[in-house]
Amino acid sequence: PEPERLEAEDAPATCDGTIDTNHSGYSGTGFCNGDNAVGAAAQFTVNPAAAGTATVEVRFANGADSRAANVIVNGATVDTVSFESTGAWSAWATKALTVSLNEGSNTIRIEPTTAAGLPNIDYLDV
Ligand code: GCU
Ligand code: CA
Repeated sequence: PEPERLEAEDAPATCDGTIDTNHSGYSGTGFCNGDNAVGAAAQFTVNPAAAGTATVEVRFANGADSRAANVIVNGATVDTVSFESTGAWSAWATKALTVSLNEGSNTIRIEPTTAAGLPNIDYLDV
């Protein structure tokens, strides 16, 4: 099926920071600028019709050095990823993850592991 786009600025998604619009190229009405702190996350909710393995594409921009984050699905850390620099805050890239999802409601939380915080996060395609 077509992936579902989960915009970081659209509830029930949450952003431990601000929804900003000052760097062009984002989808929807803004992006999540997480606080520069350990644990300042972007969290998404997805409701697949059936359990299974899903590809998750994270769209992000990072004008700084690479930033590390845990991928936490339904409360369990399932992956650790490094969001490399994209060269500018207006240069967006996608990173593909593979996760196992349950039927029904699931949370996908991208949570930084260092004081640098997350890159800016635009959306997840699931
Ligand atoms: C800059 C940039 C923000 C970004 C921040 C950061 O302030 O404008 O969009 O989130 O750096 O380092 O996280
Ligand atoms: Ca930030």
